[in-house]
Amino acid sequence: MYKISVIGTGYVGLTTGIGLANFGSNVLCLDIEKDKIDKLKKGIMPIYEPGMDSVLKENVKHNRLNFSTDIDEGIKWADIIFIAVGTPQGDDGRADLTSLLNAVETIARNIKGYKIIVTKSTVPIGTNEKIKEIISSVDTGAHEFDVVSNPEFLREGKAMYDFLHPDRVVIGTDSPRPVEAMRRIYRPLYLNEVPFVFTDYRTAELIKYTSNCFLAMKVAFINEISRLCDVIGADVQATAKALGMDGRIGRKFLHPGPGFGGSCFPKDTNALAAYARDIGMPLSLVETTIKTNYQQKLYMVDKIKKRLGNLSGKRLAVLGLAFKSETDDIRESSAIVIINELLNEGAQVAVYDPQAMDNAKALWGDKILYCKDEYDALSGAEAMVILTEWNQFRNLHLDQIRSLMTGSAFFDFRNIYKRSEVESHGLFYEGVGQ
Ligand code: UGA
Repeated sequence: MYKISVIGTGYVGLTTGIGLANFGSNVLCLDIEKDKIDKLKKGIMPIYEPGMDSVLKENVKHNRLNFSTDIDEGIKWADIIFIAVGTPQGDDGRADLTSLLNAVETIARNIKGYKIIVTKSTVPIGTNEKIKEIISSVDTGAHEFDVVSNPEFLREGKAMYDFLHPDRVVIGTDSPRPVEAMRRIYRPLYLNEVPFVFTDYRTAELIKYTSNCFLAMKVAFINEISRLCDVIGADVQATAKALGMDGRIGRKFLHPGPGFGGSCFPKDTNALAAYARDIGMPLSLVETTIKTNYQQKLYMVDKIKKRLGNLSGKRLAVLGLAFKSETDDIRESSAIVIINELLNEGAQVAVYDPQAMDNAKALWGDKILYCKDEYDALSGAEAMVILTEWNQFRNLHLDQIRSLMTGSAFFDFRNIYKRSEVESHGLFYEGVGQ
């Protein structure tokens, strides 16, 4: 059985640690945040991630999964070290590798005997080569090691499921030596005939970026078409459905909305665009995806202003703050741009989200009103604005809404209602591209 340390217990590191323990390895998850590690030792999840809780508890119970803040010891103990620290967007759009490089230096200082260092964090092209160089220069060749690029394709909210049922596993190496160990730790997937893509570092790094950029481009495309539909009176929902019936296009990631957000698409589109500009090979489709996605967020505000006119002093109920449902994450959520614009216009914004209220309070403080549920937010509102497709927002009592609100505008920016149904309750309906 392999001994695996995972540095970083964000959603990628935690999912990787719990998932690999579940596949039978002996895993130690490492993080500098003591509070987080203390909680995890007690089986308490630091993030909201459906389905992860039970797998965590199960593997802790069977002693395959442990947690520690002693990163030096964790590195010495392990055969395989996964790096899963954040690579957030820096000021200039490029990925900020500070945490990653710190982790690499710590590994280099503590390396003993042969180690496999696996990069899970999303890193710009050339980073795995750089990791190798850094370790070689600090360790001066005293110990053998291999570096492996093994990007993740997990969706927040479905991270555990995606880890256990991936579409493919990508392994980038520059030597055959670590391949067998990688096969072994992912053995249950191998046995289930999940495709494994063995390639070089640069290709593995690029596969990760191009996957996210392509998906982001698909969403941006249907959002742009939704704006066209609004003008020409066509239905984007029917268009997307028929478009997706073409097997070459596929029906997924064609849901129009208020623009994509989250910790990945915005960061990765920016990072790949910046990298390509740096090397003199700009990617105009990726650049445009970033621009058109921002326009989509502002377009939502235009829709509201077009209906309500001057927003000064008007109460607007915003339902949903997370960048998508099944997560408490509001990073780069469209709600941020939209709410800030509404506040700039002088509106009073009352919000409710089933999971993201604490994160919202940390971001907006007393600039907005935090409500106890949907109906509390809607009380006395001129308009309601749905920004996240939470299931509990799909079946609201429309009669109650009509009587609670002072106005009648119903902005469904996730297209989760039927116009006829909403209008039959005396509400004005506005979706996206309908
Ligand atoms: C994304 C990718 O889907 C994962 O494969 C990848 O591993 C991950 O980034 C990452 O790099 O870590 P995630 O950010 O969790 O996962 O979210 P998605 O489900 O992809 O959604 C991203 C954004 O696009 C959300 O704001 C969502 O609301 C929006 N979206 C998605 C749409 O507006 N329409 C769609 O049809 C699909």
